[in-house]
Amino acid sequence: MDLPRHAYFRGRIVPYSEAKVGVATHALNYGTAVFGGLRGYWNSEKERLFVFRPLDHFRRFLDSCRLLLMDIGQTPESLTAILLDLLRADGYRQDIYIRPLAYKSDEQIGVRLHNLSHEWTMFAMPFGQYIKNETSAHVMISSWRRVDDNVIPARGKISGAYVNSALVKTEASLNGYDDALVLTQDGHITEGSAMNVFIVRNGMLITPPVTENILEGITRRTVIELAQNELNIPVVERPIDRSEVYLCDEILLTGTAAQITVVTRVDHRPVGTGEMGPVAAKLRALFDKIARGNDPKYADWLLEV
Ligand SMILES: Cc1ncc(COP(=O)(O)O)c(C=O)c1O
Repeated sequence: MDLPRHAYFRGRIVPYSEAKVGVATHALNYGTAVFGGLRGYWNSEKERLFVFRPLDHFRRFLDSCRLLLMDIGQTPESLTAILLDLLRADGYRQDIYIRPLAYKSDEQIGVRLHNLSHEWTMFAMPFGQYIKNETSAHVMISSWRRVDDNVIPARGKISGAYVNSALVKTEASLNGYDDALVLTQDGHITEGSAMNVFIVRNGMLITPPVTENILEGITRRTVIELAQNELNIPVVERPIDRSEVYLCDEILLTGTAAQITVVTRVDHRPVGTGEMGPVAAKLRALFDKIARGNDPKYADWLLEV
């Protein structure tokens, strides 16, 4: 994977090699950091880079900061302006991933959230497909359970909680799957290792509500809006049982990295026909058109670099 070219670090844009922290840094030792993840899409005809829904991503990033008692003194608008400067310095002409990160920066021992300093940084790097089999993924039901809101809130992108995602992903990968679906303690489907989940059953898109220990995904919200407003498909937010994923017609995994990934097998059982279904195909085409800046109706979702 290519390294980032620059980072916004301690208030200015520097070459990536200069953005360094010490090994005693609180966040590195205790996971006391929060992050975001955005994508920039290169449109080769227009020769322009488009960042997808930056204001929504930065709103959620600042919410995650609040969960860990960090006020970084920024707004979604000011973060977007800094991102624009960063990307102009980087000059990428390809698809990229953007990572804002806020972290407890003191170099001292003592696990807590209060009476600590914090810093924040942002960098971008070239990034292609995240899940290799984006239209034919095979997932398992993870043997790990999802972190509960009263353990570490999943609605924040809290660095320490991503050990849960890492356990899930590695178990799935080492067993030959593309990813896994994770259950709540009481056995409902939450999401994948780093993506939200939708099933199609009886012509409806169904996804777990935000109270089921999921990240409140921006791609999830996008899929809900596009299904309802563009495709006339009803969307229901309700708990999903494990056995429903064995019986449904389609399964989608949505996320900034995974985009709209189609699951065609779960635990060795075919999903529906075992091939990409019509709802997934329509949503994927629409999403790609919008994210690459080819649909004027949704231009206000994009930051043009
Ligand atoms: C745990 C988790 N769920 C869901 C998502 C998808 O969220 P979004 O669509 O905002 O990228 C992500 C990734 O960003 C994630 O880390």
